[in-house]
Amino acid sequence: AGLNTVAKSKGKLYFGSATDNGEITDAPYKAILSDTKEFGQITPGNSMKWDATEPQRGTFTFTNGDVIANLAAANGQLLRGHTCVWHSQLPSWVSAGNFSATELTSIIETHCGTVVGHYKGKACKWRLYSYHAWDVVNEAFNEDGTFRSSVFYTTLGQDYIATAFRAARAADPDTKLYINDYNIDGLGAKSTAVVNLVKQLKQDGVPIDGIGIQGHLIVGTVPSTIQANIEQFAALGVEVAITELDIRLTLPVTPEKLAQQKTDYLNVIKACNAVPKCIGVTIWDYTDKYSWVPSVFTGQGAALPWDENLIKKPAYDGIVDGFGGF
Ligand code: G3I
Repeated sequence: AGLNTVAKSKGKLYFGSATDNGEITDAPYKAILSDTKEFGQITPGNSMKWDATEPQRGTFTFTNGDVIANLAAANGQLLRGHTCVWHSQLPSWVSAGNFSATELTSIIETHCGTVVGHYKGKACKWRLYSYHAWDVVNEAFNEDGTFRSSVFYTTLGQDYIATAFRAARAADPDTKLYINDYNIDGLGAKSTAVVNLVKQLKQDGVPIDGIGIQGHLIVGTVPSTIQANIEQFAALGVEVAITELDIRLTLPVTPEKLAQQKTDYLNVIKACNAVPKCIGVTIWDYTDKYSWVPSVFTGQGAALPWDENLIKKPAYDGIVDGFGGF
């Protein structure tokens, strides 16, 4: 048994992990990542982002993204595309701006249409699974629920969001289209903003299938309203996924901190497990060896359920318990 086995036994579609191209040359790492008892889904951490896929206008490179998509297909895992439109990791020709609204709209349409179209039906097409998903728009909001300033918002206002979703749907009628963000785990201004946007998009006939809760959390501070928040998202008629879960702590690791982390993982998983429309959970890589956390938050880390030596931590059992056990 493993995390994907237990998640599926409770009616979820998958338990998954992010990964990255540099990491899958690490054979012991790749072996666990490819074990479908543990992971039924993978997300490329970087290789389908704009800077990776369209570094120059109109020049698309799918080499690294294809490596991850092919790995998913070979393993019989679902694929989550990440991400079409995001203010970060943009090539300079996009972030520099200087485009008219008409031109930037066409740039978004070409980018999302080409990238989503490239991966249409690629994952697992000869396997049992048919589901895959895209984070079409990533991190559109500020903490107070206002729209984040970006080249897209500054030039187009919130219309860029509908443009991206429509282009993604036109490119692939079968993939699930998500809006994805962090700090929308519990109830609050940012989660409310997502609710209002999704209501508006649906009213306007914009194709949107899901809300991705990234879930970059901190040990000991996990919100108590996660289930209530997932329920308010699900009530909009969309599915919900936890897309980038990790729960970081202040180093050094102690048994007490690892015990609290186990409880925190348990509570997050339990919240998703309790809501049928919460269809799956992805951790943002599975081992502390490859976590993004220490490079961004100095002095913090150990955020994942496997340690740097690929040994399971108490958090692993927290996840199993959150799903109600094997
Ligand atoms: O590929 C270059 C390499 O050639 C160079 O030598 C090296 C030196 O710094 O950098 C490498 O690029 C790094 C890239 O990861 C690949 O490892 C970038 O500097 C680094 O900034 C980038 O970080 C990624 C981060 O997004 C960037 O915003 C993380 O790996 C990735 O895990 C992280 O993922 C994001 C999600 O996309 C959105 N939600 C938050 C999440 C965590 O920040």
